[in-house]
Amino acid sequence: MSGLRVGVLGATGAVGSTVLEVLAERSFPVAELVPLASERSAGKRLPFAGGEVEVRALSEESIQGLDLVISSAGGAVSSEWAPRIVAAGAVVVDNTSFWRMHDDVPLVVSEVNPEAADAHRGLIANPNCSTMQMVVALKPILDAVGIERLVISTYQSVSGTGQRAIEELNEQSRAVLGGEEPEARIYPHPIAFNVLPQVETFKGGDDYTTEERKMMAETRKILGASEELGISATCARVPVFGAHSESVNVQTREPLDPDTCRELLAAAPGVVVLDQPADGLYPTATDVAGHDEVFVGRIRRDPSHERCLNLWIVGDNLRKGAATNAVQVAEVLAQRDLIRVPEPSLAAA
Ligand SMILES: NC(=O)c1ccc[n+]([C@@H]2O[C@H](COP(=O)([O-])OP(=O)(O)OC[C@H]3O[C@@H](n4cnc5c(N)ncnc54)[C@H](OP(=O)(O)O)[C@@H]3O)[C@@H](O)[C@H]2O)c1
Repeated sequence: MSGLRVGVLGATGAVGSTVLEVLAERSFPVAELVPLASERSAGKRLPFAGGEVEVRALSEESIQGLDLVISSAGGAVSSEWAPRIVAAGAVVVDNTSFWRMHDDVPLVVSEVNPEAADAHRGLIANPNCSTMQMVVALKPILDAVGIERLVISTYQSVSGTGQRAIEELNEQSRAVLGGEEPEARIYPHPIAFNVLPQVETFKGGDDYTTEERKMMAETRKILGASEELGISATCARVPVFGAHSESVNVQTREPLDPDTCRELLAAAPGVVVLDQPADGLYPTATDVAGHDEVFVGRIRRDPSHERCLNLWIVGDNLRKGAATNAVQVAEVLAQRDLIRVPEPSLAAA
């Protein structure tokens, strides 16, 4: 395939800068790379594929002439600009939460439901990071024995909130170790040396957070499951820089023993099984950060239910949880000759 003109919106952010790395690592066929961000970053130079590219401010002019845009500049920017980018002729792979649950927007995980991309109308959504890594590990189990219910607890890193949260954990850690009071700006409480049972917000009096609601709704959409798939999620923020960890209790439809589960997962694309707990071998956030695969360990029977297993699932939220999947979706689109905006497009909706 000849090279594409690729825009990366939010290129200076935690996700966008990782998108630049992953595009180069995977040798995605880029003829021209256009990094886009706010006016604040215009003119800044970013490393790309052994050279440098100059950031352009997002505008009607800077989105012209592109084939594909990988967008990670927040929901408000995507709500306004994704239809404009589609109208300008580019297919958008969007990392924000804004479009994920729209009926005419496919929500795609490359190993799980690549065929969903076929129905795109100019925009494909990338799932939430904690949902993404979980469904990669659940898909082989779903296909083999069915899943009735999931009980999820997450331990999410600060890079999931973006660049400013990474800086906040750094600053607060130094403050506490220096005997000073940590100042909380991004999160409602200090995150250094703490665990917060709140990821995102409690909207409209809901007693689940928006992150927990996203995990429940997006998991069902990606797996093609109805409300009959019971899901209960508790999401916590922990003072870890990169990679989300999850404890997932899976109630299967048919019985599944831990050894068969290990075999299923070891054979699944994008999954690495690391499970010799007596030797201290299980996935940890610091080991998994920087990897593209989802790692699974502590696979064991739940003694309280004959059809339940417990899994420990760890993934790099900036890589498989965002940038890597976005680039893999772009690869799926390229393989299926889908990097073109169909009519009627989302922009006309
Ligand atoms: N972090 C994760 O693990 C993760 C995973 C999945 C999805 N996401 C989603 O991806 C999005 C970005 O997250 P992030 O963690 O990368 O955030 P971030 O580090 O704060 O980066 C935000 C990016 O958006 C740009 N931006 C902000 N306002 C803009 C505007 N008005 N016009 C153009 N560009 C603008 C910023 O540019 P400037 O530098 O010019 O301000 C920056 O490049 C969010 O919607 C987030 O929910 C994040």
